[in-house]
Amino acid sequence: MPRIALIPGDGIGPEVVREAVRVLERVMRGDGLSFDLVELPYGAERYLREGVTITDEEFRALDEDYDAVLLGALGDPRVPGNEHAKDILLGMRVKLDLYVNFRPCALLSPELSPLRSIDAPFRLDIFRENTEGEYTGMGGSFKMGTPDEVAIEENIGTRKGVERIIRAAFEWASSRGRTRVTLVDKANVLRHVGGLWRRVFAEVGGDFPEVRRDAMYVDAMAMDLVRRPQEYEVIVASNLFGDIVSDLAAEVTGGLGMAPSANLHPGRHALFEPVHGSAPDIAGTGRANPIGAIRCVGLLLDHFGHHDSAARIEDAVVASLEAGSTTPDVGGDLSTEQVGEWIANHVDGAPAPVS
Ligand SMILES: NC(=O)c1ccc[n+]([C@@H]2O[C@H](COP(=O)([O-])OP(=O)(O)OC[C@H]3O[C@@H](n4cnc5c(N)ncnc54)[C@H](O)[C@@H]3O)[C@@H](O)[C@H]2O)c1
Repeated sequence: MPRIALIPGDGIGPEVVREAVRVLERVMRGDGLSFDLVELPYGAERYLREGVTITDEEFRALDEDYDAVLLGALGDPRVPGNEHAKDILLGMRVKLDLYVNFRPCALLSPELSPLRSIDAPFRLDIFRENTEGEYTGMGGSFKMGTPDEVAIEENIGTRKGVERIIRAAFEWASSRGRTRVTLVDKANVLRHVGGLWRRVFAEVGGDFPEVRRDAMYVDAMAMDLVRRPQEYEVIVASNLFGDIVSDLAAEVTGGLGMAPSANLHPGRHALFEPVHGSAPDIAGTGRANPIGAIRCVGLLLDHFGHHDSAARIEDAVVASLEAGSTTPDVGGDLSTEQVGEWIANHVDGAPAPVS
């Protein structure tokens, strides 16, 4: 039985994870699936109480004793430097080598998009490289604080790192019937790392003749994601460009409360988390939208091969949007818990509760 670590974390994290688990348990019961769910206390409360973020032994256990992680969010105003969040989140990315940041951006209902030109649902899957690029901390400062200060931030691209994320994007496209993968880069200016990405993209793409491939500069893609996002199917990008275009795509497809994500090392480990943070401004008010976290359960089920169960969650989410049974951020007036109950009831065919 797959073992899932639940890390609700801080702020609205526990509120949205509770609803995600409600939906997961309903699906498990309805579809006869078994997952061993184990809640772990990593977050600000523990850090403030014990001065511990997450130990090496706990990282080892996450790696060896669990098949996946479902995370809420980390970040608490009582820890101004957010040391615990950095330790836990970045620690998991690096120590579990979660090199794929998968951001499916689906516009489930045209009303959710700020773009008035979009009149039909669409899906755009983004594969962001999660371990290299400008995010390694390589570089340094010289003569800091003087008029002669020099600061260098290295852009790291390795053959292995670039190849594995590009392959993951093509494998996803090929296995899901998607017909096009687009590389987003700035290879006209960042010629060394950009050149590596272009060469590997052509080489790996050659193994998938059924999938069309093209490349776009990131500035042109920023314009197109506002102008005609529905034209794209799968995007693969470096850490920095993927970070930026995936937030833009999340916003044009319904905003923070709706967006799920996965951090993956295919074949080894998986971490699922809503894109939003711990939203301390609304924590405890019942206004947190649980749909991003609930859709993470869909990704988790998909990851373990339960595609029909995952599709039923997505259908239930769409039904809740159509019925207006949502939290205020997407136009409804239900609470976090009521939305969770509504979707859970819809997933197992029970009548939806009256709000
Ligand atoms: N992966 C993570 O755990 C993660 C990601 C981003 C930010 N953070 C942390 O979260 C804390 C708050 O950061 P922030 O304010 O920049 O980003 P945030 O995503 O927490 O909130 C941004 C805005 O969106 C709203 N919002 C977010 N999620 C929502 C939801 N599910 N339903 C309705 N409204 C929602 C919030 O109320 C807020 O107004 C910080 O400590 C930050 O470091 C954590």
